[in-house]
Amino acid sequence: MGEVDVSGSKNAALPVIAASLLNKGTVELKNCPQIRDVTVMLEILKHLGAKVYDNQQSLFLDTSEITSCVIPENLMHEMRSSVMIAGALIGRKGCAKFTYPGGCEIGSRPINMHLKAFQKMGVEINETNDKIECKVQKLIGTKITLSFPSVGATENMMLASVLAEGETVIHNAAREPEIVCLQNFLNSMGGRICGAGSHTIFVQGVKVLHDTSFEVIPDRIEAGTYLCMVAGCGGEVKLNHVNSNHLQEVIRQLKKMNCQIGVSPKHIFLKSNANLYPTIIKTMPYPGFPTDMQSQFVTALSIAKGTSYVMENIFENRYKYVKELMKMGAQIVVQGKTAMVRGVKKLKNAQIEAKDLRGGAALVEAALMAEGISTITGIPYIERGYENLTKKLTILGAKIKEE
Ligand code: UD1
Repeated sequence: MGEVDVSGSKNAALPVIAASLLNKGTVELKNCPQIRDVTVMLEILKHLGAKVYDNQQSLFLDTSEITSCVIPENLMHEMRSSVMIAGALIGRKGCAKFTYPGGCEIGSRPINMHLKAFQKMGVEINETNDKIECKVQKLIGTKITLSFPSVGATENMMLASVLAEGETVIHNAAREPEIVCLQNFLNSMGGRICGAGSHTIFVQGVKVLHDTSFEVIPDRIEAGTYLCMVAGCGGEVKLNHVNSNHLQEVIRQLKKMNCQIGVSPKHIFLKSNANLYPTIIKTMPYPGFPTDMQSQFVTALSIAKGTSYVMENIFENRYKYVKELMKMGAQIVVQGKTAMVRGVKKLKNAQIEAKDLRGGAALVEAALMAEGISTITGIPYIERGYENLTKKLTILGAKIKEE
C-alpha cells in the first residue's frame, strides 16, 4: 500500500492569492501548492507591484504598494483564471485593464457574468476588440442573482465587494469548498462575509483589511485523481491531509464502482481489485459530481464490466482526451454532452498527447492502467495543477519518468 500527501488546492489558492491584493500589507499563506498556475498568479502580482517571498513552508505576499492596474496580456492568455485578479484590482484601485480570456481548451469560458456583476456595483466597462477596461470611483454594494452558479463570477463578486460601500448579496452563488475558503481568507483579513457554501452570500463592506496568516484547504481534485488512478490500476492507497467531506460524491461513485473505501475527516483509504462496475455520472455544480473529475472517471470506467454513461453538463468541450484513450483501445462514443463508455478488458500502450490539465491527468492514469510503456506529451498542461506528480506516483509503485 502507498500513501499520498495531498497538496493545497489549486482552485482555492488562486483566488486567495488574488484576494491578497485587497490588503495594504503582508499576508502569509500556508499549504500553497507549487504548481505552474500558482507561479503565473504570482507573476501577475509581481507585475502589479507586489513582493513575493517564499521560505519553503509559507508564501509571503507583500501588497503594500500596488503600482499598476494592467494584467499583462501574455499571463492573461497563459491562465484564464487570471481574470480573478480583476475583482481584486477593482476593489483595491478602482480600475483593472485586461484582455478578454477568449476560448480555451475545455470550452468558450465567457466572462459575461463577471462583467455584469461589476457593472451592477457601479463599474464602468469599456470593451475594445479583446481589451477590457474597468473603472469606478466608488464601489456600491448591490444585490445580484447569477444566471448560473459560476465559481469564478461568485469569487470575483466577493473580491470586488469586500471593500465596497454597504451590503452586497449574491443569489444563486456557487457553493464549492473553494468559495468557503475564499470567504474564510477574506474574513481572516477583517472582511465581513457570511453564507459561503449556501446559495446566498452576504458581504458587508468594510473600510480596510489587515494582515493575516492563512492555510489553504486540501486539493479535492488532486485527491480524487489519485483515487481514480488506484481504482483503475488496482491496489491500495491512503490519502493524507485530505478533507473527505469535500469528496462525498466522488467517494459515492467509487463505492458504486466496487472500490472499498474507508474514510475519516482527514484521510481516505481505497482498495481496488480493478474489477470495476459500470455507473452513470452527471457533472453538476457542487455538491454534485465535479466536472474536474469527469475525465479521470471515464478512464477508470473504460475497463469496467459493462457500459457506463457520463454526462458533462458544465463545459461544452471536455472530451478531447477521449480520442487519445481510444488509441489505447478504449471504446467510447461521445454524442453531445454524453459519453457512452463500453468497458474493455485492458487498455494497451500508445503514444498520446495531453491537451488540457484534467484530461492530461486522465491520460497518465490510462498509461498506468495499460499494458506496456506509453509515452505522453503535453506535460506542461498537467504541471499546471499537480504538484510532484511523478514523485507521488513513484511512491505508489508506478514506473514513470519525465524527460
Ligand atoms: C472553476 C474552476 C474549474 C472548474 C469550474 C467548474 C478555478 C480556477 N477553476 O472554473 O477548475 O472546472 O470552476 O467547477 O477555480 N460561464 C458563463 N459566463 C461567465 C462565467 C461562466 O457562461 O461569466 C459558464 C462557463 O462557460 C461554464 C460554466 O459557466 O460553462 C461554469 O463556469 P465557472 O463555474 O465560472 O468555472 P470557472 O470559474 O471558470
